[in-house]
Amino acid sequence: MKDGKIRIGLIGAGNICQSAHIPSYLEQSDAELYAVCDLKAERAEDVRQRYGMKVATTSIDELVSIDELDAVSVCTWNNAHADAVIRAARAGKHILCEKPMCMNPAEALEMKKAVEAAGVTFMMGFVRRFDGDSVAVREAAENGLLGHVYYARASLLRRRGTPLGWFTDLSKSGGGPVIDIGVHLLDLTWYLMGRPNPVSVSACVHHEIGDYKTKGVTRWEALDTDNLVFETEDSANGLIRFDNGASILFDVSWAINGLNGMSVHLYGNKAGATVSPATLYGESAGYLSDMQLKPAKLKGFSEEIRHFLDCVKTGRKPIAPLEDGVTVQRILNGIYDSAAAGCEIKI
Ligand SMILES: NC(=O)c1ccc[n+]([C@@H]2O[C@H](COP(=O)([O-])OP(=O)(O)OC[C@H]3O[C@@H](n4cnc5c(N)ncnc54)[C@H](O)[C@@H]3O)[C@@H](O)[C@H]2O)c1
Repeated sequence: MKDGKIRIGLIGAGNICQSAHIPSYLEQSDAELYAVCDLKAERAEDVRQRYGMKVATTSIDELVSIDELDAVSVCTWNNAHADAVIRAARAGKHILCEKPMCMNPAEALEMKKAVEAAGVTFMMGFVRRFDGDSVAVREAAENGLLGHVYYARASLLRRRGTPLGWFTDLSKSGGGPVIDIGVHLLDLTWYLMGRPNPVSVSACVHHEIGDYKTKGVTRWEALDTDNLVFETEDSANGLIRFDNGASILFDVSWAINGLNGMSVHLYGNKAGATVSPATLYGESAGYLSDMQLKPAKLKGFSEEIRHFLDCVKTGRKPIAPLEDGVTVQRILNGIYDSAAAGCEIKI
């Protein structure tokens, strides 16, 4: 680190890199966008020029071998997260990794080995943890206001919101809504419950709607939308059990014939809570009482990137550390494994 600036390399210069990571780094006076890598040379060069960066390359090895570079954001398709993280760690760079961590728990463990051997900072891009409502409910739970959280109900349903591009290509994504948006839902719910140890999963996945031509709906688009295939599920539901007796009942969809919405309900033996709006459900003065928390509105990606830079500077452990990425990956792949087996499985 020179002049108090953390020099950043971007690996994967697509939609999330350009719409969230770059603007969030630009807000920070102690970060400098230094180098960019993408499989598409013209995309990397375009981003380099627009933000006055020093290097554009198509090679991850070339990017991570730049001495001046301190840290990287990994924003590739899911199938390249593990490789990019392992190469960056071996080169001694600190790492912010987009969700999901990778394709499966075996990859997650390889990443863990490389990061621990290198002793670099690694943070998962679990951006929902940084929303104001999430922070407020987490504080309430940490302060014991909910008691033992023994059950959670979590739902993230899109009626028609299948992302366009590689997301439906199993070889690049590793799965559908479970791995794409279920990762946000289940990570947040599990984190707010105090991160109990998962022991089993019973889940179903469905592919019932698939590609659609519905008018008047919007969707997330990868920068490349050619070569489209639809090999993944479009909805899933299930039950996750933990070794402290707690459970999460969840459903998630990219496309389903029902209402849009995200909800997380936590049920503790002292009080319950919902996120968005952050509300506690308990008793007060002998009566049932609902207490709405009023946190400041926070911009999740700005908070996430600020936290990452602070952890790089201080060596502090991120609030979304490597081992959380590994556990969430075990849950996500447990959902697919249980659905394939047609029964509850140990994870
Ligand atoms: N946190 C969130 O809310 C959020 C939202 C959307 C996407 N994402 C995640 O961000 C990642 C990227 O998604 P996107 O929507 O930006 O997709 P995208 O296709 O627009 O961008 C990905 C880019 O990575 C490049 N790439 C792929 N493999 C590479 C490799 N081996 N080396 C260098 N470049 C490579 C592609 O050429 C492309 O430009 C995914 O992991 C996705 O799950 C997170």
